[in-house]
Amino acid sequence: MEKPDPKAVRAMFGGIAPRYDLMNRLLTLDQDRVWRRALLEAAGLPEKGLLLDIGCGTGDMALMAAQMRPGLRVVGADFTYSMLQKAANRPGSSRVCWVEADALALPFEDAFFDIAVSGYLLRNTADMAKALAEQVRVLKPGGRLAFLETCPPSNRVLAPAINLAFQYGIPALGGLVSGNRQAYSYLPRTTQNFLKPRQLAAMLAAAGLEKIRWQSFFFGTQTVMAGRKKG
Ligand SMILES: C[S@@+](CC[C@H](N)C(=O)[O-])C[C@H]1O[C@@H](n2cnc3c(N)ncnc32)[C@H](O)[C@@H]1O
Repeated sequence: MEKPDPKAVRAMFGGIAPRYDLMNRLLTLDQDRVWRRALLEAAGLPEKGLLLDIGCGTGDMALMAAQMRPGLRVVGADFTYSMLQKAANRPGSSRVCWVEADALALPFEDAFFDIAVSGYLLRNTADMAKALAEQVRVLKPGGRLAFLETCPPSNRVLAPAINLAFQYGIPALGGLVSGNRQAYSYLPRTTQNFLKPRQLAAMLAAAGLEKIRWQSFFFGTQTVMAGRKKG
């Protein structure tokens, strides 16, 4: 599995921030909103309380959570300033507190949040176990952690075709739309070598979560996983 370099990751997302949302809609055929909603439902959003969206990027998940639960206080955190800047300029953004922070060293005290969510963060971190440990640390006992991530396709019949589309289609489209073909070669490269849902679930259990469940979408390439902090 590739170990991402945080400086390179930050520079890459800084470079693609202006076209990030458009690319997401195109690459997922506008389905990412459905998966994000599934994630927030799996997280079991309370009516009130405090939610952290870590690696929030341009804020899709944080903003959706704030819209779904008007009584919830929402923090969106990311270490790429230009992604946060885009988030903070979107409609509804005043409902969210935006924080520049590293997922591997969260600037929050222990047992602070009721819910911690992330979308496409884990694959991009230099130390996934540490990223999970930090989220578990800032969760209250009984709090829920949920994430959405791209995994290698689980459908064996379609896997070769999907891998080809990932390998050639995504970089070509990314180059055309964002002008950054390299950034969109990174997505298929890191996905092909990434963990399968069962392996991710084992990591969550090792991080101190229980009642771990997952759902797969889009030929098994999209995984929504959730668990509960013990205690
Ligand atoms: C693929 S984007 C996902 C953005 C958003 N969560 C979404 O669902 O569209 C990954 C985001 O994670 C952020 N990120 C990667 N590593 C991080 C770290 N160690 N700490 C904080 N943010 C990180 C990047 O800056 C980027 O905005």
